Amino acid sequence: VNPGITLSWASELYCDAVDAINRAGITDSDDDALALFQTVWSSAHPFTAPPPHTTAAVGEFEALVHRRCAGVPLAHLTGTVRFMGLDLEVEPGVFIPRERTTLDLARHSIAVATGLAAVLDRPVRVADVGTGCGNLAVAVLETLGDRATVVATDIAPAAIAVAGRNLARFGCADRARLVCTDVLDGVPGPFDMVIANPPYLTRPETNARWSELRREPVQAIDGNGEDGLAVARRVIDAAHGRLDPAGILLLELATSQMHRAAAVAARRFVEVDLVHNGSGIPRVLLARKPLGA
Ligand SMILES: C[S@@+](CC[C@H](N)C(=O)[O-])C[C@H]1O[C@@H](n2cnc3c(N)ncnc32)[C@H](O)[C@@H]1O
Repeated sequence: VNPGITLSWASELYCDAVDAINRAGITDSDDDALALFQTVWSSAHPFTAPPPHTTAAVGEFEALVHRRCAGVPLAHLTGTVRFMGLDLEVEPGVFIPRERTTLDLARHSIAVATGLAAVLDRPVRVADVGTGCGNLAVAVLETLGDRATVVATDIAPAAIAVAGRNLARFGCADRARLVCTDVLDGVPGPFDMVIANPPYLTRPETNARWSELRREPVQAIDGNGEDGLAVARRVIDAAHGRLDPAGILLLELATSQMHRAAAVAARRFVEVDLVHNGSGIPRVLLARKPLGA
């Protein structure tokens, strides 16, 4: 059967890349190959807008495909990751945000911030602990505009540098302050909201998922302690100290940790609740600081 369609050199190159990425056992091979194609040829498209052929560019593309097949994360090859429709800069040494797990925290952070800004009738003061590339800070500020300010902290200087560039990229830098510190040390607040997606894997979990996670900075994923909640406990403590009465804490944790973390939060917070995702799985812990505290 000849449907009368001739494959261009670009579409053949693209199809070979999809096959290679598939053979390497990586899902989303179509999307990955297209993203790598457009890393080399920007807005060109292998099927609808093939670029002019140059040997150097083809070599560059093949090298990228080779590294992808070897397990280098797509975001490290393209230099960007998409989170809530935002193309954010990332680099090795800085955690790559995952919509799959963190979209719920982002959505709830925005919803709570929007509600608080309306009730308080002034910009809501948000602390984003462990900001990574700044994805949550940018998402909140992009949506709320001048109804929010953010102090974003991270223990990793590389994360603070990338977060600064992402805040600037989206014109949010004037409403954000970045602090390289441990949790909220040296950051007095007060805040109306504290949000965090802290490292929360246990050491055995980190080891078990090492082939998938080995390119991530260990301090971004390993929550320390037997139950992976060592950093989360400190975030809960620090949030209690920095939040205004009635202020709100939002934490992303692993499903298996939610009830234990909720019990920790319930010692000092009220209205402790678990927010479930569309599949009914708890993804976010939400707690309110008591009025009289
Ligand atoms: C799972 S990543 C989350 C990044 C981003 N907020 C997100 O949701 O995608 C955890 C981040 O917390 C930072 N981190 C780890 N321990 C920390 C600590 N003790 N104080 C501040 N940041 C910390 C890591 O460097 C990393 O950027």
